[in-house]
Amino acid sequence: MDVMRVAEIMATHPEHRRRPHAEAYALGAAFCNDSLVPLVEASVPLVDCGFMHADAVYDVVSVSRGQFFRLEDHQDRFARSCRAIQLKSPMGRGREAEILNELVDRAGLRDAYVWWAVTRGLPPLGRGEMIDPAAFTPRFYAFASPFVWVADDEQRVRGLDLVLSRERVRISPRAVDPTAKNFHWLDMQMALFEAGARGGDWALLCDDSGHLAEATGANVFVVVDGECRTPDAGCLEGITGRSVVELCAELGFGAKYTRIHADELVSVEEIFLSTTAGSIMPVRRLDGQPVGGRDAPGPVATALHNRYWERRFEGWHGSPVLYGASE
Ligand SMILES: Cc1ncc(COP(=O)(O)O)c(C=O)c1O
Repeated sequence: MDVMRVAEIMATHPEHRRRPHAEAYALGAAFCNDSLVPLVEASVPLVDCGFMHADAVYDVVSVSRGQFFRLEDHQDRFARSCRAIQLKSPMGRGREAEILNELVDRAGLRDAYVWWAVTRGLPPLGRGEMIDPAAFTPRFYAFASPFVWVADDEQRVRGLDLVLSRERVRISPRAVDPTAKNFHWLDMQMALFEAGARGGDWALLCDDSGHLAEATGANVFVVVDGECRTPDAGCLEGITGRSVVELCAELGFGAKYTRIHADELVSVEEIFLSTTAGSIMPVRRLDGQPVGGRDAPGPVATALHNRYWERRFEGWHGSPVLYGASE
C-alpha cells in the first residue's frame, strides 16, 4: 500500500472545487480589528502584546470537502489554552465558530487552513497595571486560507527525513505550558534550521532529560511491536494525534500515551508525525539512518494516513461549513 496523494485529490476531485468568491479573497479571508477583510489586508497593531511578547494562544482547524474537522475539539482546546494563560477571549464560543465559518465561506474554500488567536492586546497605559491580567483588553484575530500542506505529497509518499535536535531541547513545561497552544516557537524553529543544516527536513525535540517531547509543530509517534506510542507529557495534546489513537482502534493497532526516551529510537519499527496541516506524516530516516531498516514509509503509518483521509472524506468528526451565511 502506498501513501495516498491527497494534495493531488484536492487539486482534481470535483468535491474540492473552490466556490465562487471575490478576487480580493483569493488568498483567503481574515478577521482583525473587529472586521472581516481580505487576508492580504489584515494587520496587527505593532504594540499588541501578542506580537511584542508572544503573549497569545491560538488554534488551527482544517476544513476538507466543505466540512470542519473536529471543530468542537479544537474550540475546547482553545478554551483550555486561554484559561492556562489567564486570558479571556472577547468572543463567546458561538461567535467564534460563526466567524470561522464566515471566513471559509467568504473565501469560497472547500479545503481550508483556519487559524485563530487571542492576544493579550494592547498594553494598559497606567503604571503598575501590567501585573493585572484584567487590565488588558485581549484581541481576537483569525484567518482562513486555502489548505496548507506542511509536508506535501512528495514528502509524505517518500517519508520525511527527521533530525533529532542536538542543539535544542523543547522549552520546559514549567516555563511555557506546551498544552496551551502558544506563540512560543523559537526552540522548534531553531531546531528546524538545525535539521535543514544537517540535511533533514523536520526536527524532533526532547525534554532536558532526553525523553521525546514533540517535533516542530507536530506530535511524534513511534511504532514498537506493532503498537503506536506517543509522549504523554511535555507536548501539545494534538487533535490529529487523538484521531490517530482512534484510528488505531479501528485498524486493530495498539496505541498508548507513554514516556519514550530518545535512546529507544534506534530500535523502533516506524516513526511518524501528526499535525493538522500535514495530517499523518511518515518518517523514512532519522539522522540519516533508515527507520526500521526500510528507508520508506512504514505500513502502520501508511495505513493510518490513508484511513485518516478516507474517514475524513466520509465526513468523520465533520461539521458542515454553512455556505452563504456571510452574505
Ligand atoms: C507544538 C505542536 N505540537 C503538536 C501539534 C499538533 O497538533 P494538532 O494535531 O492539533 O494540529 C501542533 C500543531 O500545530 C503544534 O504546534
